[in-house]
Amino acid sequence: MKVGIVGSGFVGSTAAYALVMQGIGREIVMVDLDSARSAAEADDISHAVPFSNPLTLLPGEYADLVGSRVVIVAAGANQVPGETRLELLQRNADVFREVIPKIIEHAPGAILLIATNPVDIMTHMAGEFATACGMPLHRVIGAGTMLDTARFRTLLGQHYGIDSQHVHGYVVGEHGDSEVLTWSHVTIAGMSLEEFGKVRGVKLDDDSRSKIDQQVRGAAYRIIEGKGATYYGIGGAIAKIVDVILHDQRSILTICSRIEKMEGLPDVTISMPHLIGGDGVIAPIPLNLDQTEQRALQASAQIIRQATQSLDL
Ligand code: LAC
Repeated sequence: MKVGIVGSGFVGSTAAYALVMQGIGREIVMVDLDSARSAAEADDISHAVPFSNPLTLLPGEYADLVGSRVVIVAAGANQVPGETRLELLQRNADVFREVIPKIIEHAPGAILLIATNPVDIMTHMAGEFATACGMPLHRVIGAGTMLDTARFRTLLGQHYGIDSQHVHGYVVGEHGDSEVLTWSHVTIAGMSLEEFGKVRGVKLDDDSRSKIDQQVRGAAYRIIEGKGATYYGIGGAIAKIVDVILHDQRSILTICSRIEKMEGLPDVTISMPHLIGGDGVIAPIPLNLDQTEQRALQASAQIIRQATQSLDL
């Protein structure tokens, strides 16, 4: 199974490395405006293949994306210290006007997996191009709040002393400053946090909640301040989404997609839990949030809509 990656910078090349080391896919093509960069990244990452499962990983042009099951789009600028994801919008919209039509032209049957920030609006934009070419929207997916959900679950796991795989909770809304941690919805062993806390004798006071919220919401800023970019977390999230698609794993992931009709939400491209399979989005899954969370989600949706409208698509 073939995977294309357009944009061989930090995120694209880390995603390629994650796919190689987990043995996901059989053929990877790396495309970049800077062909020397994609050639060097492909060359370097291909030297890790002998330590994993066999696959071919090559640099290529857009025409080499033909036959891809998934095309990861990581092209564009990333945040500099102190910059919000939304501030990347106009620059990356210009990149997408170049890149997305070429991908669809050469890989019309692929699922587009958008990683470029601001990922909700970039996914919406990719969806507009896809619709114009007759490509169904269920095949246009953004990495959304996959990484935020993982950060949230990890911190809760650390708080309660358990593996994050056993914490079921989501971050929804914008992959950005207005994202919503769905505290009321989190369960561990089928219990609410309060019930589980009583069973394990672990309190979760307001100070702990506030600390976890800040650590999730501010993670990227903190890392970018220290090393200039984030890429390992998002690379792992992308590899997970590709694995679910290539193996039709029917998983529930907080990716972002165009949600035209969901109670309590306007027509918007936003992160919610989605059931994902081999042909992309099967269905978005609505959540029964408390009033505070519902209001925060609606506010987040409005922020995405306003930013999207600024693009005059
Ligand atoms: C982050 C980038 C992927 O949250 O937005 O690390």
